[in-house]
Amino acid sequence: MSSTAPARHADHVAHVRAATDRALAAAGFDHLLIASGRQKYQFLDDRPYDFAANPHFKWWVPLGAHPDCWIRYTPGEKPVLAYHQPADYWHLPPSDPEGEWVESFDVRVIRDPAEARKVFPANLARAAILGEADAALGDAVPNSPEPILHRLHLARTRKSAWEIERMRAASRRAARAHRAAAGAFRAHASEHAIHLAYCEAAGQGERELPYGNIVGLNEHAAVLHYQHQDRDPPAEHRSLLIDAGASVDGYAADITRTFGNGDPEFTALLDGVNRVQMALADAARPGVDFRELHLDAHRGLAGVLADLGLVRMSPEAIVETRLSSAFFPHGLGHFLGLQVHDVGGFLADESGATIPKPEGHPFLRCTRTLEAGNVVTIEPGIYFIDLLLDGVRAGPHAGAIDWRRIEHLARFGGVRIEDDVHVTDGAPENLTRDAFRALA
Ligand code: GLY
Ligand code: MN
Ligand code: MN
Repeated sequence: MSSTAPARHADHVAHVRAATDRALAAAGFDHLLIASGRQKYQFLDDRPYDFAANPHFKWWVPLGAHPDCWIRYTPGEKPVLAYHQPADYWHLPPSDPEGEWVESFDVRVIRDPAEARKVFPANLARAAILGEADAALGDAVPNSPEPILHRLHLARTRKSAWEIERMRAASRRAARAHRAAAGAFRAHASEHAIHLAYCEAAGQGERELPYGNIVGLNEHAAVLHYQHQDRDPPAEHRSLLIDAGASVDGYAADITRTFGNGDPEFTALLDGVNRVQMALADAARPGVDFRELHLDAHRGLAGVLADLGLVRMSPEAIVETRLSSAFFPHGLGHFLGLQVHDVGGFLADESGATIPKPEGHPFLRCTRTLEAGNVVTIEPGIYFIDLLLDGVRAGPHAGAIDWRRIEHLARFGGVRIEDDVHVTDGAPENLTRDAFRALA
């Protein structure tokens, strides 16, 4: 894909600066201060939680494990980074500032968090300060002004070339790990062992992964965000649904694959969802309303339900009666980037006005019209969820369902296939499928 020279972080910073200049001017601020965040501890204990850096901080510098740092930016001036490197012999302090990003910053190493004040502007009343409340340093209290946030969030939906390269690399890392997980499934490993095989191949553990791995065997594949991992393998390995990502320089991949045991009906379901998914990923192009694409997903998946004889109705009627939502109860996808569910999905414009979700689709996370530079996930699925099927059984359309087939397929849980797609002016770039192809 990328035969050209690598993208430069300095060009990315220029893109961030330009967006920030516009936001500060429009909202009437002279300076931007961004706190990386504070290390948090468990209640009445000295055990730290995993540190999660302020995503706005990570937009400027690829430093995800660096609490108590601050960026100060005044348009027209080189951004200043207060780089916290404590004298600490209990923990390994951050290394000296190093990497391509250093050239774009005036880096000042600080030994104590309060020293960051030395880089703050004199007139804090003219500063937008982005961070959590606990980052406050004296009268430098985060105000996170909404007119600034809306504009930066919108800007973050349009990725720079440097960001797209990070996301390509994240997909490659995750694809390698998905292949290892598939091997562990075929070797009849437990959910936990599949997770460990994934982490080993990704070279990342819980601290680095962008979200907790979802590893569901058999019926567990029906739990959308299944949060456990059985330590013992089941008696039979019918299916695996694994939703797991990877991160590179703070940018996420978010990938789901589903595998079966060769059962013909489940294989037909896998093939059907895969076909629909590929068509949707190919349709992620500038000018496409993501709400329409989500409704297209319902129409496509309804076609699968009808073709496989699971619901004896036309695809149109399956959508019309909302039966499709019993099998596909989540949104088609979301923006992806510094956060797995990245910001800006509902913004109509810089005013912060939002675009409503289609009625009856409360879990859709993106209602915008796609633009070149967006990265979205495309993640349709068909699941057999007791709670939702009970509602169908008690409803007016129970007679249209082939309950025998549903019962058979329910033992496999469900299918989700999720790719990360870069919207371009030409054909979409499927970061995920490209990554799997590069492995082959
Ligand atoms: N991994 C969470 C999601 O797909 O949205
Ligand atoms: Mn996702
Ligand atoms: Mn996912």
